[in-house]
Amino acid sequence: MNECLEIQGPCTLNGTVRVSGAKNAALPMLIASFLTEDECVFSNVPSISDVLILSNLQKSFGGESYYNEKEGIFRVCMKNINSVSASYTLVKALRASFWLMGPLLARKREAKIALPGGDKIGTRAVDMHLDAFKKMGATISLEHGIVHAIAEDGLKPQEISFYFPSVGATHQVLMAGALTEGETVINNPAKEPEVIALANMLCNMGAEIEGAGTERIVIHGKSRLRGTTEEIIGDRIEAGTYIVSGALCGEKVRVEGFKTEYLGNFLEILREIGVNFKAGDDFVEVYKSTSLKPVHIQTAPFPGFATDLHPALAVLLFMLNGTSTIKETVYDSRFAYVSEIVRMGGEAMTRNNSEASTKRDLTNLTQGLYDNTVSITGPCNLMGTSVEAHDVRCGAALVLAGLVANGLTRIYEPEHIKRAYLNIDKKLESLGANVYFKDNSYEDFNFVGC
Ligand code: UD1
Repeated sequence: MNECLEIQGPCTLNGTVRVSGAKNAALPMLIASFLTEDECVFSNVPSISDVLILSNLQKSFGGESYYNEKEGIFRVCMKNINSVSASYTLVKALRASFWLMGPLLARKREAKIALPGGDKIGTRAVDMHLDAFKKMGATISLEHGIVHAIAEDGLKPQEISFYFPSVGATHQVLMAGALTEGETVINNPAKEPEVIALANMLCNMGAEIEGAGTERIVIHGKSRLRGTTEEIIGDRIEAGTYIVSGALCGEKVRVEGFKTEYLGNFLEILREIGVNFKAGDDFVEVYKSTSLKPVHIQTAPFPGFATDLHPALAVLLFMLNGTSTIKETVYDSRFAYVSEIVRMGGEAMTRNNSEASTKRDLTNLTQGLYDNTVSITGPCNLMGTSVEAHDVRCGAALVLAGLVANGLTRIYEPEHIKRAYLNIDKKLESLGANVYFKDNSYEDFNFVGC
């Protein structure tokens, strides 16, 4: 079915919205179920396509996986793992499947996983994952696009230092270290709330882990881990997106279902812009804001400004008076939303400084991996038109732009949005927006040229 998401703008939002369980917490935690023969049970699991793919992945490895989508309850038992291979099709459908390497190496001493390529937001290297496993004693070879990792005598605990706090590499070493007897240390790990959630789960399974959320994680791994029952934390990126919707066109929008501390410095940035809001431990209430000011900000690992909120916040910058800049330091290509919003009437310019990526050679990068900047000049009078959601966060930004644009915005490729924003149509509708998924085809496009 050719589907699109339609928004009739401009909208005025009013009411309360509850965010779902975090995709980025659910995925590593569901993968960590590969570390034990016992059953693991999860609640508050969002019914999004990535979770459904992961459930199928567990079944394809011989697991018993039951997902009650309505209740958000996920039960899985990976007692019998009958394969060590994840195909390119799988890794392409769900990048996070690459994180199976850690659990498989620790439990089965072998993993054959397709090397994920880059995607629309960047090259997305995995060198730190592989270097960590090499240091822990695995032999790694690349065979026809498949990474073949073998640890014949089992993984060995080690001290691992990352040159950049990669979320995925931290998840991998946390999982592998938890099922490797002895002390594994991670220096400069990612500090994201989802990393802390995974570390808490591994502790509940029997590992001893100190320092999650700090500069140094110490894992006392065990030879066997037990099953656990976990609740997935609320989605901070979804929360941030609804908070921006309130700042853009809310009378009063209350966002609940997450801990405010998960937002890192996001609320400080909103305060600097002049957004009128009130925050408690587990909610943010945003009110209509006038006289907003431009900002000059950059994305950074947690607790810095989350790269996954960059496109959403940019929409607010299109609407205020003056020129703002966002420097993207985590990904080399996060600007797909810019040209789409320019088509809606936005004014923006991007600058790519590719030399910055050579900083990769340095250890403990402080400036981020990349130095790519967008300048946004507002206020813009956005007009609804047909646009394309090139990736999940680009899609979220286009939804926000559609809420403030005059007329009908039609977002193609909305499956990207569905990967992370559960029931976005119903949630926005409950706030008073006119948003709906519609069966459609590309018939209104005139394809010209090649
Ligand atoms: C996770 C999140 C993603 C988020 C990102 C950064 C999930 C499912 N995805 O992705 O939504 O945007 O964290 O907060 O949780 N890098 C290297 N070498 C490595 C590993 C990473 O150079 O070995 C680079 C990547 O190319 C990228 C940057 O580091 O430019 C961030 O990557 P990483 O933190 O690993 O992100 P993911 O875990 O893929």
